[in-house]
This record gives sequence, structure tokens and C-alpha cells, in this order.
Amino acid sequence: MEKVTVKASKTYDVIIGTGFFDDAGSMIRKTVGGQVAAIISDDTVFELYGKRLINSLENSGYRVVKHVFTKGEVSKNTETYLSIVEFLAAEKLTRSDVVIALGGGVPGDIAGFAAASYMRGVHFVQIPTSLLAMVDSSVGGKTGVNLTAGKNLLGAFYQPDLVLCDVSLLSTLPQEVFADGMAEVIKYGMIRDKTLLEVLGDCSLVALSDIISRCIEIKRDIVAEDEFEQSTRKLLNFGHTVGHAIEKLSNYEISHGAAVAIGMAVETRAAVSMGLCDESCLDELIETLQKHKLPTSLADLPDKTKYNAKNLAEVCLSDKKRDGDSITMVFPEKPGSCILKEIPVGELEDIIALEL
Ligand code: GLY
Repeated sequence: MEKVTVKASKTYDVIIGTGFFDDAGSMIRKTVGGQVAAIISDDTVFELYGKRLINSLENSGYRVVKHVFTKGEVSKNTETYLSIVEFLAAEKLTRSDVVIALGGGVPGDIAGFAAASYMRGVHFVQIPTSLLAMVDSSVGGKTGVNLTAGKNLLGAFYQPDLVLCDVSLLSTLPQEVFADGMAEVIKYGMIRDKTLLEVLGDCSLVALSDIISRCIEIKRDIVAEDEFEQSTRKLLNFGHTVGHAIEKLSNYEISHGAAVAIGMAVETRAAVSMGLCDESCLDELIETLQKHKLPTSLADLPDKTKYNAKNLAEVCLSDKKRDGDSITMVFPEKPGSCILKEIPVGELEDIIALEL
């Protein structure tokens, strides 16, 4: 087992390993204590892993309660959020009790926001079950839900007390959901460590553990430097400006990973056109995305006319990455190194159009 310690407004451990899920109860008890453990999960993940987690928590002396919602990004809304906090209140959770997110990015983000806001903050543990959640969303304290106007527009920075990444839980992931997580791994490769792009062929559990640990180390360093996304943390948004707009325009039918993959390709094509990086950088990105069966262009999307530069730019204007009249975008200089660039909002459409 490996431990990565994140030092932010809260200091906490991320444990990465294989086959320790049934010890979650004792690990959580040791870290946060409390009497009640509230599991927040979606129906698919709860069916697979809920019973084992309940047993483990009960064996460690917790009274366990659960709130399970319908799987998918469409559930990441204020209605689900309110049903969770009402549930916590009905179960009389106190500030010394613990909310546990069991699942991918959606349960993690929504449970985290519930934990951040219920009674102004209760203990919070993340047990990610998708690659995407392990390498990205469970670490770093971004929590929230979508509003009608856009993705993650309501939320809080709220660091967990503990993150448990049992890589063996990934064995039940469908291929396309696994590929979604690979898009975020490729993002880390592009922004900080090009060796990640090279090792991605080996998907054994041991190799995966190492890859996940490396991504979490990169995130640890970035979050320690800029927890509240004033500067360096914006690098983690590579591919996300266009990516979030694609997700929103598709009514969340296009997955986060696929949207980010296209977003990275669009933003890198723009970087080549602006003379910020060489064509070889784009080639390496495209080749790596294709190796993992991820889309690489807006032309790969089902309804090509909907995802035009004008519509995408318009959605970007409601994104929280916008700051007044400009939006900070991330562009690669070469694999393993990206830069931040302020783009006047009026130029966004032309930049996205560079890809078409
Ligand atoms: N997912 C990007 C971040 O945590 O900053």
C-alpha cells in the first residue's frame, strides 16, 4: 500500500493499494471516529460494493445509514443534493459523524458538497470506485453540483479527511468508463509528467497502482501550492474549458472523460495554430488518446452541427473559469508542460474554430 499525504487547509492521507476495501471501516474509525457513518452512493456502485462497506463499517462499531441515487451525471443536481442533506438531518448526523462517498466522480462531488454544507461541515471520506475519481476528483477538495446554467457551478472547496483507493475495485468498470479515467491520466501526462504518456500501455493492477499514485502525487503538489485555484491549479483544467461545454451541450450524454479528451485535442490544435507548441506534441496527444479509444475531435461527436465553435464559446461564457472579460485557458508547450493564457472572451470562438 502506498500513502500520499496532501497538505492543504486540511492534511489528509490518500491510501492507494489492492484488496484493502474490507478494512475501510477500521481505517475510517482510526482517522475520524464518530458514531454514525452515512454512505452516499449511486445504485450501480452500491449494488456492487454497498454490502461489503456496510459490513466493514458495522464491524468497526458504526451505525450505518445509506442514501442511494440514480447513477449518472444527470443526478448531479440541486434536487439530489437537497435530498442528501435532508437525509443526513433526518438521520440526526452530528458534526462528529462521517459522510462517506462510495463511487465515481458524481457521488464524490455531491457527497462532498453535502458534507461541506450540512451543519457547516462534517467529516468526509472518499472511496472512489472509478479510475477518474481515483486520479482526480476524490483528491483536492473540489465538491459541488451542476446548475441549469453549467457544470459544477454550485459547490465548495472542502478537503476530505481520508481517501481510500482500492485499485481492485476497478475490475468491475466497463471499458468506456475506464477510458474516461484514462483521459484524466493523459491530462496529467500532458501538464506535468510525459513519462505517464509512455507507460499507459500496461494496465495490470500493479502498473495501474503506480500510475494512480503518480497522478495523485502531481495533484498533491499542485493543490499544496494553490488549493483555491488562483494560479497553478488552473493547469488541471487542461481540456476542461471546451470539455465542460461539450458535456453541457450534450445534456451530459457525452461522458466527462470523452469530453475532456476532445477538449484537450481542440485546445492543443489551437496551441499549434498559435505557435505555442509543435505539431509533434499534438501527434503524441492524439496517438495516446486513440490508444485508449478516446475521441480526438469535435467531428467524432454524434451531432456535428450542435458542437460548433459559436455554441461551445457561448456555453464557456457561463463557466466558472471565466473572470470578467477573460477566461484562463491551458495550452501545451510540449508533452509534460503546459502554460496558462488569458483569453479575452470575444476571441474564444475563433480559438475553438481553429480546430475545425
Ligand atoms: N479536477 C481539477 C481540479 O481538481 O482542480
